[in-house]
This record gives sequence, structure tokens and C-alpha cells, in this order.
Amino acid sequence: MTEIVPVTGPELVTYADELAALLVETVEGGSSVGFLAPLDRGAAADWWRGRAALVEAGAHQIWIARDDERVAGTIGLVRTALPNARHRAEVAELMVRPSARGQGVGRALLAAVERSAAAEGLSLLVLDTETGSLAEELCRSAGWTACGSIPAYAGDPSGALKATTFYYRVIGPPAGLASQWKGTSHDRGEHA
Ligand SMILES: CC(C)(COP(=O)(O)OP(=O)(O)OC[C@H]1O[C@@H](n2cnc3c(N)ncnc32)[C@H](O)[C@@H]1OP(=O)(O)O)[C@@H](O)C(=O)NCCC(=O)NCCS
Repeated sequence: MTEIVPVTGPELVTYADELAALLVETVEGGSSVGFLAPLDRGAAADWWRGRAALVEAGAHQIWIARDDERVAGTIGLVRTALPNARHRAEVAELMVRPSARGQGVGRALLAAVERSAAAEGLSLLVLDTETGSLAEELCRSAGWTACGSIPAYAGDPSGALKATTFYYRVIGPPAGLASQWKGTSHDRGEHA
């Protein structure tokens, strides 16, 4: 059985090696998730550990899907700290272990993020993905709206520039900006 749980900053550090394995496998499989191949596993683990402070600050939320205590997939939600954009967030780092794909894990991760974001009062989610990727099938079938593609937007793992399609999903009535996450002290200009 697969369960989906949010992770805290310290838990992210604990899971960093497993998440690094997932990220490396995803990049080696040719998926465009922000990294170039070959991706060193240690560097990938460092990247995950580097998110821990952002997770603790509430700027970056991360969920993992676990089956038999292993990480089967992950998804992130990056909050927007700009004062006029606190009603929205960006879905990021959606990836499922190749051996766990095609069993509904990706759909469940996306749904979990949508539920959580709606419960927190967010009204709009956005994401982008390589044009023609399987993630597009998932987005469309999960009710997301494509709003356009930009050619040569991002490199695939081999470094070849590929088109990216941008999606959005309205997950609740616009609730205004007042009640949302207020950003970090850095975002507010409260520098130490
Ligand atoms: C995209 C990804 C997360 C989907 O995860 P998954 O667990 O395999 O997806 P699911 O089993 O939940 O499938 C959800 C929907 O996606 C589509 N889909 C998934 N795999 C598919 C395939 N091989 N062929 C066609 N459609 C597919 C279908 O619409 C499917 O719904 P259905 O099963 O009701 O037909 C996974 O393929 C992945 O990790 N890809 C590499 C990383 C990546 O591209 N991330 C996206 C960055 S935004």
C-alpha cells in the first residue's frame, strides 16, 4: 500500500539519500526535472538536504509517497512570497520511481498537493512540464488547463533544449491575499 505524507525539514534530511536515488533514476531515464545527466548521487542528496531550511520556513513543501517504507515518489509545492501572489503556488519535483509508475502514485501525489493547498486557502496552482511528456497526460486528465508552450525553454538531461508547456488549476475561490503564508523574513526585507 502506498501512503503519501508531508515531510518536515529534518525528515527531508533523513530521506535525502532515497530521494537522491529517485532523482538520479528520473534524470537517467531522460525526464526533464531541472537537472543534467550524469547527476552525481551525492550532489543530488546535497540538493535535497539544501531544501530543508526552506521546508522549515514554509517556503517549500514536500510530500513523499512510501510503499513498504521506500520512497516511491515525491512532489513539491513552492510558495510565492511576493505580496501580491500569496494565493498561488507552483507544483514542482513531481517524480515517481520507474518501477512504481502506472499505478496511480503520480495522480495521488498531485491530488494530495491540491487538497493541502486548498485547505491552506490557496486558490491557484501552476506547473510546467516538458511538452509531450507523460506528465502532460496526467495534468490534462487531472483537470489542469494548458495555457501555452514556449519553445526551447529548458534543457532535457542531455542538454538539448525542449519546449515546455505551462498549466494552471483553480483549486478554490479567490480568497484574497491577507490570510496566506507571509513569506520569510528575508522576503519581507527584514534582514538580520
Ligand atoms: C509523470 C509521472 C509523475 C506520472 O507518474 P505515475 O505514477 O506513473 O502516474 P499515474 O500512474 O498516477 O498515472 C496518471 C495518469 O498519467 C497518465 N499516464 C501515466 N503514465 C502513462 C503512460 N505510460 N502512458 C500514457 N499515459 C500515462 C495517464 O493519464 C494516467 O491516468 P490513467 O492511469 O487513469 O490513464 C511519472 O511518469 C514520472 O515520474 N515521470 C518522470 C518525471 C516527470 O516527468 N515529472 C514531471 C515533471 S512536471
